[in-house]
Amino acid sequence: MDSIVVKGGTPLKGKIQIAGAKNAALALMPATLLSEEPLTLTNAPRLSDIKTMTELLRSLGVEVTALQDGKVQVLSSHAMTSTTADYDIVRKMRASNLVLGPLLARHHQAVVSLPGGCAIGARPMDIHVTALEAMGAEIELKDGYLHATAKGGLKGAKVPLRFASVGATENVLMAATLAKGTTVIENAAREPEIVDLAECLRRMGAQIDGEGTSTITIQGVDRLGAATHPVVTDRIELGTYMLAPVFAGGEVECVGGRLDLVGSFVEKLHAAGVEVTETADGLKVSRSNGRARAVDVTTEVFPGFPTDLQAQMMAMLCTAEGTSVLEEKIFENRFMHAPELVRMGADIEVHGGTATVHGVDRLKGAPVMATDLRASVSLILAGLAAEGETVVSRVYHLDRGYEHVEEKLGAVGAQIERIAGS
Ligand code: EPZ
Repeated sequence: MDSIVVKGGTPLKGKIQIAGAKNAALALMPATLLSEEPLTLTNAPRLSDIKTMTELLRSLGVEVTALQDGKVQVLSSHAMTSTTADYDIVRKMRASNLVLGPLLARHHQAVVSLPGGCAIGARPMDIHVTALEAMGAEIELKDGYLHATAKGGLKGAKVPLRFASVGATENVLMAATLAKGTTVIENAAREPEIVDLAECLRRMGAQIDGEGTSTITIQGVDRLGAATHPVVTDRIELGTYMLAPVFAGGEVECVGGRLDLVGSFVEKLHAAGVEVTETADGLKVSRSNGRARAVDVTTEVFPGFPTDLQAQMMAMLCTAEGTSVLEEKIFENRFMHAPELVRMGADIEVHGGTATVHGVDRLKGAPVMATDLRASVSLILAGLAAEGETVVSRVYHLDRGYEHVEEKLGAVGAQIERIAGS
């Protein structure tokens, strides 16, 4: 397994190109299952999760062609061979469950393995199941697989979500495009990746209103056609690299960054004394002298503070002036980066879903271990600020969601290198 070595203390200077959003692409790719016409995605991110989704879709008979080193993905499901998503793929990536809605909608059947838990929580699928049953699906759990059928196809329905689940909203949104009649999703997730999916489905011929609000209305149509769609900018990669100069000092411009994607995150940066400037090409962050100020953070559904930036923010607050309280409200176990940061000299107390961070003057480099995607990158960022050398192991977690992190940070002056593992 590869590891990444970071030497702290070198100020950064330059531009980082932000890639297309992993969490948009992982919903856009299964949308190909809704039509026998080709779907072309541009600005696609080059990530191992995209390779896993490609492997899953190919196992169903979907043709997936990567062009321009993976920045363009051309998908076609005109020759499907299966409607079963196997456990050995689904267990690697929960987003595999996003084939459930499209398969049910167009093929009226699906067998999808339950993803199983992961490092950050149990991550059940009850909201997905309840919603699709409201649309006429019959879903039974057998041997760890959801066996779903929709005799005569899905029917439009009012679908209230007990929680604004991103994945459940995406599954229902895709399923409803081909259902008979009108579907109204209530308490829908409002994330930019939902908006991006709706825009892509509309390009394919779907009739959708209200994406980005809590109520989305979809008028079912008989079939969907071909489309070409650019994947929206990755707001989590954006937020991650915006923090890099706060750790290391210097100035970084995140090309492709948009304020509307990171509103609540930027509000917290301002409260912490970090200035963010809009430029013609994106968002620029420079480390004003002196330490950041402590701020309290509570993760919420969009447009609240994103859970996927909680670990990165905690790492930044480790050397802020004062005490910060972070509350993780989305996942039940998303503080695994805390003990690793403590190994680097951070002063953090975790009690259930609340972490209290007492700012210290400086972190010290240490060998640390990545546990989940976002925890991994928070350790890389901490290494930029730490005295000495930090070695982050198990970086396969990192490669799931960050394109060539050592190249992007190295290009703006970070002392960072990847050590190939055994
Ligand atoms: C998406 O996961 C993202 N993944 C996650 O990003 C992100 O953290 C999450 O949304 C929240 O924003 C992708 O888009 C591929 P949820 P998803 O359904 O759809 C509970 C990353 O780092 N829940 O909104 O799985 C669930 O257990 C990843 O890129 C149920 O209880 O998130 C969790 O506690 C991590 N029953 C909460 O809701 C359900 O049926 C949020 O889950 C579904 C969810």
